[in-house]
Amino acid sequence: MTKIIIVGAKGRMGQSLVRCGKQNKNLEIVGEIGKGDDLAKVIEKCDAVIDFSVHAATVAIAQLCAKHKKALIIGTTGFTEAEKKELKEITTQIPVVWATNFSTGVNALFWITRKAAEILGPDYDLEIVEMHHRLKKDAPSGTAESLAKILADVRKIQLEESLRFGRKGIVGERTATEIGMHSLRGGDVVGDNAVIFAGNGERLELAHKASSRDTFSNGALRAAQWIVGKKPGLYDMQDVLGLK
Ligand SMILES: NC(=O)c1ccc[n+]([C@@H]2O[C@H](COP(=O)([O-])OP(=O)(O)OC[C@H]3O[C@@H](n4cnc5c(N)ncnc54)[C@H](OP(=O)(O)O)[C@@H]3O)[C@@H](O)[C@H]2O)c1
Repeated sequence: MTKIIIVGAKGRMGQSLVRCGKQNKNLEIVGEIGKGDDLAKVIEKCDAVIDFSVHAATVAIAQLCAKHKKALIIGTTGFTEAEKKELKEITTQIPVVWATNFSTGVNALFWITRKAAEILGPDYDLEIVEMHHRLKKDAPSGTAESLAKILADVRKIQLEESLRFGRKGIVGERTATEIGMHSLRGGDVVGDNAVIFAGNGERLELAHKASSRDTFSNGALRAAQWIVGKKPGLYDMQDVLGLK
């Protein structure tokens, strides 16, 4: 039985995690931490902490996990470069699964996107389109960022220099090396992410649509069971699913 604490427990993802966690016979929820609650008071009771809160809170949560040698699952997105650096440093001390998307379908999308980019080669223009609910605070989505990283990696291009966030005005012809990134917001969309490979005479579109947050929750809960007993280090959902 894996004992877990959920941080951000009152949020949209947190409520889904609590509901799915209670249905999972291999897990026990020993803490539900909201804003203002003290994680330090309960952390000793758990094997792993699952964080789906807000980017500014995660470094302190990770530091507490490192102090108490507890495994950590990071689902929160929207980190600054400085926060990412601090979190990566902490992964040398404890095992951490850090994933921008915990759904099995999206992790299949990551794998297929890499394959498609390798097969199609440099002649296809790359565009990413994501849509999320109106209350989402960060953009682009962490999943869209992960897709862009995969594409830049296969093409051997610098990610930051290649990204083109939307287009407006006389922007000139599209360059072969750019990766278009488009964030749509509205309604209650749980999470849509798509990659478009546009070539001469054909277009390949790979798309994933999440219709329930439970898909992310069940992935994160699976990661929490997988991580206990692993060596300190940075893991992702591809590790958990055995896709590497
Ligand atoms: N990796 C994935 O698969 C995945 C999937 C979906 C979402 N996400 C990410 O998960 C995060 C949460 O998403 P959401 O839609 O659940 O957002 P949300 O509804 O705003 O929930 C976040 C919760 O965290 C709370 N919080 C803020 N600071 C905290 C702190 N210091 N300690 C504990 N709780 C704190 C917030 O409280 P207040 O409202 O009072 O500030 C809120 O209840 C976002 O970064 C989102 O992008 C990741």
